[in-house]
Amino acid sequence: MSAGASWSRVAALTAAVLDACDWPALGAIYCNDPVEARWPERRALVQEHGLALARRLLAALPRGGTSLWVGAGLAEVPVLLAETMRQGRQVLATNLRVAECELLNRALEQAVPEMPCRYQPVDARTLAAAAAFDHLGCVSVFTDPETWPVLSEVAYGRLAPVQIDVAKFVAEREQARELAAVLFGRLSRPGWITTTAEEVSWFLEQAELAGAAIEADEELVPTALVGDPVGLLQVR
Ligand SMILES: C[S@@+](CC[C@H](N)C(=O)[O-])C[C@H]1O[C@@H](n2cnc3c(N)ncnc32)[C@H](O)[C@@H]1O
Repeated sequence: MSAGASWSRVAALTAAVLDACDWPALGAIYCNDPVEARWPERRALVQEHGLALARRLLAALPRGGTSLWVGAGLAEVPVLLAETMRQGRQVLATNLRVAECELLNRALEQAVPEMPCRYQPVDARTLAAAAAFDHLGCVSVFTDPETWPVLSEVAYGRLAPVQIDVAKFVAEREQARELAAVLFGRLSRPGWITTTAEEVSWFLEQAELAGAAIEADEELVPTALVGDPVGLLQVR
């Protein structure tokens, strides 16, 4: 697919993908959330916040290059389209939920068959091992309640200290650290990381260990579905 698409074209294709989504099936995946009942609201949020994030990122990311999007879902549709179609970048999108990947891929195939990117239902570490990338997208992954039930509650301030199962917390923290280390270690420099305020510390720790300099963007935008504030880090 050639680069250089206008923002209105990216918005139109985003709308076409959203139109092609099987909303009742997606709703069943998103924690039995009756998402189809709130379809107009969700659709508007993905369009508004997803495109705002895409504009912000594309102002910083170089042409060409590769992004690895970890835990990518519906919210990332606009940015995946924008990177590919405006900036000529390769995008790799991974998500552990097989059914969600299938549904999103079906919508992409129907609405934008020429789009080369497909959601891959594999652990991000598998893709990271095989690809070089200069941008890592990691939005609400380290706070994912399905993957890290204890870390998620702690990160969102929903668990009182007396309620923490310390053994589980330590086990999850070590798994999360290992994931952050693999992803950070494979990011080329200069590189960029898009992540949320709640999970940025996983990467700040890795940057310190690696002696890398980090410049954090002041501007944060809310993500479309989870609503976490997301921003951009530059890594040197
Ligand atoms: C809370 S969802 C966030 C989805 C989306 N980024 C958003 O903001 O709406 C977290 C996602 O991270 C994915 N995830 C967690 N660990 C992962 C890993 N190691 N590799 C790939 N995806 C992962 C889960 O499968 C889940 O789809």
